[in-house]
Amino acid sequence: MTEPHDDHPHVPGPSLWPVGFAVGIVVLLVGVIISWWVAGLGGLIALAFAFLWVRDLTAGTPLAHAPEVAPETGGAAAADAPATATIHEDAEERYPRSKFLELSTLGLGGVIGGIVTAPAIGFMVAPAFLKQGQKDHDLGPISDFPEGKYVIATYMADKSQGEVSRRTAFVRYNGQLKGQPSFTIISNHCAHLGCPVQANGPLDEKNTKTFGDVTLIPTVSIAGFGCPCHGGQYNTEGNRIAGPPVRALDRYAFSIRNGRLFIGKPFSVSHVDGAGSSAVIHKWAFSFPGEHVNGLESWLYPIQPPH
Ligand code: FES
Repeated sequence: MTEPHDDHPHVPGPSLWPVGFAVGIVVLLVGVIISWWVAGLGGLIALAFAFLWVRDLTAGTPLAHAPEVAPETGGAAAADAPATATIHEDAEERYPRSKFLELSTLGLGGVIGGIVTAPAIGFMVAPAFLKQGQKDHDLGPISDFPEGKYVIATYMADKSQGEVSRRTAFVRYNGQLKGQPSFTIISNHCAHLGCPVQANGPLDEKNTKTFGDVTLIPTVSIAGFGCPCHGGQYNTEGNRIAGPPVRALDRYAFSIRNGRLFIGKPFSVSHVDGAGSSAVIHKWAFSFPGEHVNGLESWLYPIQPPH
């Protein structure tokens, strides 16, 4: 005699592995934006849960799930044969089909998901591995920079890209510091939304110098920098003094080679204490306009969308 036949297909029970896998992917994507360590952790989580998930899916159907056959109750062995055949036929027909449908659905979903997300992730990640036109650039002999006055320097960050790569920096020679020339080099990108800030004061345009792709325009005397977009104002050290900017103006590193000034990579600044060669610069990794680099807001808004 056999137990009543189980008409329900045997599918794997509910599992938490997909949830863990999804969490790992989310951590990975967040890590791509904020930190490679977090991205690595996300990748490990996703891999671990993917392994457990796949292992569950590919594990065979336990025989315990198959319809059980009661011990023969006096019938001949031949009486069991049809029941056993029914069990095998049932297992071969039902479970493999449902398993095939489940795996093919997951596979198809994965392929579609990959096609949709791969380009977006590629555009998001690729810039981090590409050259960003931040090579040192020769701005000319340091004698072209009068002490205590800003000079507006423009140059092409990448000549192969032409004028679209033109950058502007405010350069001030601060005199000697411990026997070395000291410079303040401030970016013209507003720390609010990136508009080009202007020098608040007259320019000495008749003494403009040009060589190669570099143009140097001396200023007469400036009272700081102002942004024409939303009224952001900065003092002569680049500190925000009014308007919506979230921090001080970015600065550039520099080096002196054979008596010439080379402008280097930009970095962000929360604020500057003091002025000139004795200024204390509170330096941070280069951040985008509108991005807080310290304080409570940097914790409240830790992730910036791709710019
Ligand atoms: S972009 Fe400069 S104040 Fe808004």
